Amino acid sequence: MKATLIDGKKVSQEIREELKPRVQNLIQQDLKPGLAVILVGDDPASQVYVRNKEKACEKLGVYSLKHQLPSTTSQNDLLHLIDELNNNPAIHGILVQLPLPKHLDEKKILYHINPLKDVDGFHPYNLGRLMIGDPIFLPCTPWGVQELLSRYQIDISRKHVVIVGRSNIVGKPLSMMLVQKAKAANATITICHTGTENLAQHTQMADILIAAAGSPKMITGELIREGVVVIDVGINKVEDKLVGDVDFDSVVDKASFITPVPGGVGPMTIAMLMANTVKSAERTLHG
Ligand SMILES: NC(=O)c1ccc[n+]([C@@H]2O[C@H](COP(=O)([O-])OP(=O)(O)OC[C@H]3O[C@@H](n4cnc5c(N)ncnc54)[C@H](OP(=O)(O)O)[C@@H]3O)[C@@H](O)[C@H]2O)c1
Repeated sequence: MKATLIDGKKVSQEIREELKPRVQNLIQQDLKPGLAVILVGDDPASQVYVRNKEKACEKLGVYSLKHQLPSTTSQNDLLHLIDELNNNPAIHGILVQLPLPKHLDEKKILYHINPLKDVDGFHPYNLGRLMIGDPIFLPCTPWGVQELLSRYQIDISRKHVVIVGRSNIVGKPLSMMLVQKAKAANATITICHTGTENLAQHTQMADILIAAAGSPKMITGELIREGVVVIDVGINKVEDKLVGDVDFDSVVDKASFITPVPGGVGPMTIAMLMANTVKSAERTLHG
């Protein structure tokens, strides 16, 4: 078997096209969706991510406001800026680019964002709503994974999904999304992590295997069974090249579907961020 490539670039483009009429509709009602991005420090990767988010806003007709702050910014100054943005009616989404410099308390800062402007979906209020199956904003990367599966008509219901990674931004929320008794969900989930004994025993049981470990090429052909769907969330820089958590070459002949890196899950994250920003603006009209 040679796996079908899941083209995240193409799907993310489709999603952005679908958002355009919604943005136009808002603009006709004098409501331009607005996204504020806060970048603290000069981490080169973060700068690229923020630039890509700005470009996505421009292309879609979404107002984007960037706050580039020095790495010495104090916790109080940052909290004040978030207060300002929480109260700014032109801003519907607030995103603090991670990681933050060490002296800043990441939790305290993320928890300070108004949950109704939390388009990253990281606030405990939004994670709690997700857990009880009544979400407002879904975290962008997990939502991107679910959309990719849906749009490639890959059944999730009744399937065994194995997720490698339990972070609060990918593994855990994704598990919560896919376990719901809902459309594009209803799966049985196994979550693996560094405390998992005999990883292969779990990954070999997967109908859908999602790698979100941040460990380059750790998922090799021996860890999977024939016909599995493989989603690679990992983005790792190895000798100036971007590689995923999946050893593509040893997996591609055994899997039925596979996402490449780059061009798989990566582009979906920004598309879902745009979707959350548009949704947030729409919510101000409809309550
Ligand atoms: N495509 C995108 O847009 C996007 C978005 C976000 C993240 N990412 C990428 O996705 C990857 C994961 O990101 P993250 O933020 O979730 O990472 P993270 O916070 O570092 O979490 C990694 C998780 O994987 C587990 N893990 C690491 N190595 C493992 C191993 N050898 N065996 C089993 N479990 C292992 C860790 O277990 P413990 O909990 O036991 O430490 C942890 O739960 C990274 O490469 C990141 O760059 C991509």
